[in-house]
Amino acid sequence: MTARLNVNIDHVATVRQARRAPEPSVVAAAMICEQAGADGITIHLRGDRRHIQDADLRALRDTVTTYLNLEMAATEEMLKIALESRPDAVTLVPESESEITTEGGLDVTANIAIVRATVSRLREAGILASLFIDPDPRQVEAAHEVSAQQIELCTAAYADATLGGRGFHGEGALRLGQELRRLREGATLAKQYGLLIAAGHGLTYRNVGAVAAITQITEFNIGHNIIARSIFVGLERAVVEMREAIRAER
Ligand code: PXP
Repeated sequence: MTARLNVNIDHVATVRQARRAPEPSVVAAAMICEQAGADGITIHLRGDRRHIQDADLRALRDTVTTYLNLEMAATEEMLKIALESRPDAVTLVPESESEITTEGGLDVTANIAIVRATVSRLREAGILASLFIDPDPRQVEAAHEVSAQQIELCTAAYADATLGGRGFHGEGALRLGQELRRLREGATLAKQYGLLIAAGHGLTYRNVGAVAAITQITEFNIGHNIIARSIFVGLERAVVEMREAIRAER
């Protein structure tokens, strides 16, 4: 069975916010992604609202017909918004104002009480609760302990290890092998706990294949590389090509 692809459209909003203009429309982008075969749409409503806005979430909830995954920090403000807007899934992510993008997974063990309480309130509302974590066995165990239904394995370290450049061998290749093994082992452990397994962050047309070959992973959340490619080939084709890159391995 192939893995599902949710397209993260945050950076469509980044382009719009660069000019505080009405275009490009995230609703139009989501529709094109769905028509191109995306299984869902992912957005990250950040505390600083640097790209996606509250009104985008409402508009997307009204128009996305496949699956809407909201990434957010585990704060009271965000929980209230999630409970009002009712996305299909919420992925809890760590957030800090100085970061360019999400840096690594949520430390569930260090924040166990707040994560447990947030997961519980999401589940009560019928929203799937997913935790974005590093492929670390202690974090997988903690995700199980707080009754999350899904984990999203952070592929940032793996993606970084693929950027070996020219003459890529020796230490770089070793690190790549280690990062892939961590993802494989994290996925195997999560599966034993009965968790659903997603993956994402930093994935590209070139590096997604090795992760897509991990059969326990059933969902990918990919944004920047698809939106970047869409500038040259159009959004529809960019989505189709990423689906094909995932399918080639399954
Ligand atoms: N998954 C999570 C939890 C994220 O925070 C992000 C970035 O917003 C992504 C996936 C997508 O990462 P990228 O834009 O690098 O594909």
